[in-house]
Amino acid sequence: MKILSKNGDTIELLASPDEEPLVRGDYILITDGGRSILAQVIDIEYADVPGILEDVLRELASEHFSMKNFDPYGVGSILLDVRDSRRIIAKFRGVIVDGSLRNDVIWLPSRFNSRIEKASPELISDLMRTCGRRRIIIGECMSGTISIYAEDLDGRLTIITGKKETGKSYLTKLLITSLAEYGATVVVFDINGEYIGLSETVDGSVSRMAGRHYVLTPGENFRVSVEDAGLKTMADILQHILATPATTIREFMRIWSSVERNEGRVTLRGLINAVSRMQMHESVREALMSRLLSLSETGFFDDESPVRIEDVLNSRSGGIIVIDLSNSIHQTKKIIVEYVLSKLSSLLREGAIDPLFLVAEEAHLYLRETYWDDLVTRMRHIGIFPIFVTNQPDSIPEMIYRQADNIFLFNFTNESDLNYISKASRVDSDTVKRIAKMLPPRHCLIIGRVVNDLPVVVRVREVELRAMGETRLLFGRRYS
Ligand SMILES: Nc1ncnc2c1ncn2[C@@H]1O[C@H](COP(=O)(O)OP(=O)(O)O)[C@@H](O)[C@H]1O
Ligand SMILES: [Mg+2]
Repeated sequence: MKILSKNGDTIELLASPDEEPLVRGDYILITDGGRSILAQVIDIEYADVPGILEDVLRELASEHFSMKNFDPYGVGSILLDVRDSRRIIAKFRGVIVDGSLRNDVIWLPSRFNSRIEKASPELISDLMRTCGRRRIIIGECMSGTISIYAEDLDGRLTIITGKKETGKSYLTKLLITSLAEYGATVVVFDINGEYIGLSETVDGSVSRMAGRHYVLTPGENFRVSVEDAGLKTMADILQHILATPATTIREFMRIWSSVERNEGRVTLRGLINAVSRMQMHESVREALMSRLLSLSETGFFDDESPVRIEDVLNSRSGGIIVIDLSNSIHQTKKIIVEYVLSKLSSLLREGAIDPLFLVAEEAHLYLRETYWDDLVTRMRHIGIFPIFVTNQPDSIPEMIYRQADNIFLFNFTNESDLNYISKASRVDSDTVKRIAKMLPPRHCLIIGRVVNDLPVVVRVREVELRAMGETRLLFGRRYS
């Protein structure tokens, strides 16, 4: 290989066709003297050899003649090599000086004397190593093992994205089971009911997660009291999810205090009775009554034997708490999420529970608009660390990409999806676009803090847990 040019942070190299093949994401070292440039291959193209069009046309026209084998001076193979040489496009990732990677050193290696070779997986592991202690093995890269550290997910905002069936949920399960094993609490909003099987292994036996995995099914083992939800959350549910007008909400607040005063505690039944009894405008009464009845129909509220989420969270030292939203209708999903988020925030603020990770798959389906900002600012500050998983990148606001500390990017072919993701501030858009387009399933490009800002392409390893991502098929997998 030889250096062809360097333009900004893009380095172009020429390689002959018989050199060791490189894949997108591979790291190369360009060494000259005691220093090396570290660059990452993002694409491979044919070299623009002058006259190539003419050559190829001539070749095509003479295909039937034996002329092309006429090579009296034996230079054919060299010419062929020249015409077939590759242009490798790589991104500058830094200069290695005394074993450490620096971005501030201005230095160019010689075009002719420098040695260019593939970087060893050990060197990449070393350079991307952060100072964590809790290792999570993610998979393989350049025939080495890639691990990240749980500490780099802690307190951070993480996005896992890629098109359908590429392995996002699988990776999420790998990450959260490792986090739970290190004692972290992970709350999962599970819209497809695919996180409920983590207590089992692939062959149906009890998995190592069994004692640390707890499924909350709304309406069954997850019903909450109105009192525990509190006036603010109930008013938020009425306002944001059931589209209750402001004047009606004001009336609701008055009724709430009156029930509290007269009965000592607030229940859904008590509120419904009060609405039917107390004096108010008929239209307000109707508006409130219909909404309270629909809250009651969700089956999520139970004032007699409610579950307290803090009891579930505190009864174990870390673990995965799955909130199964798969069987709830759209509006009920939103009500449950509203309750859970507002409850978790107040419990964290009171110091009643430990900080936790929150996995939200396809969050735009149940998260109200105003929560995005809140989740990455206020809620993260008090101890909710979001992991957003989506196959629709533009369903997550741009601002979230800019703030993301870690991105696990699987394949995307659609240009507009790629354009959107390339707004993430931790990596250049060329890398995102060229690498993500070509990623095979189960491979992802990891960007951000977990890899010390050295993007790597990883083939995600297999886990023995029952991952439950399989789509149910009508005709089964065998067509014979
Ligand atoms: N690293 C992996 N090793 C083994 N199987 C995997 C891996 N990644 C994904 N799969 C399988 O591929 C399928 C799709 O993965 P999934 O994570 O559900 O995709 P996505 O969430 O991106 O739609 C599932 O059947 C899953 O079990
Ligand atoms: Mg999925």
